[in-house]
Amino acid sequence: MERRNFLSSMGITLAIACTGGLAACGGKGDDPTPGPGPGPGPGPGPGAKLTVNLATQIPNVGDAIISNGVVLVRTNTGNAAASFAAFTSTCTHMGCTLSGVSGGKIECGSACGHGSKFNLDGTVSNGPATTALAKYTVEVNGTTLTVK
Ligand code: FES
Repeated sequence: MERRNFLSSMGITLAIACTGGLAACGGKGDDPTPGPGPGPGPGPGPGAKLTVNLATQIPNVGDAIISNGVVLVRTNTGNAAASFAAFTSTCTHMGCTLSGVSGGKIECGSACGHGSKFNLDGTVSNGPATTALAKYTVEVNGTTLTVK
C-alpha cells in the first residue's frame, strides 16, 4: 500500500472511531448533573410562622404586622422578645382574619362586621368573641425577630 492510500484509509477509520465515541458519551439532554433545585426562596424559615427585620419593620410601640396567620404587636421599646406579643390572626368568634391594632386593642374589623376586640395579652376585651387568641412564641436574635 502506498503511503498516500494508507493515510487515507487511516483517516476513515479514525472518523468512524470518533463518531462511535461521541455516541457512547451521550448527546445533549443526557447530562446527569442535577439542576440547581428550588433553592431557599423567601419565607419565614423552617419552624417559623413569621420572620421580621427589626432594623426596618415594626419600630414603634403599638405598631403591628398581620401576616402568615400571625398578628405581631410591639408592646414596648427595645429589641427584646418581651417587647412583642404574637398571636394567631384568626378571630376566635367565627374565624375571620383580624384587621389591625388600634387604641391598644387587636381588632376584628369591618370585613366580618362583628367587632370583637382583644387585649394585647390576647384576652377578649369586647365580644362577641368569648375565647382568647392563641399566643405564639417570639424569639429575637440581633435584629431578626422570629415568631414560632
Ligand atoms: S369573626 Fe371576629 S368578631 Fe366575628
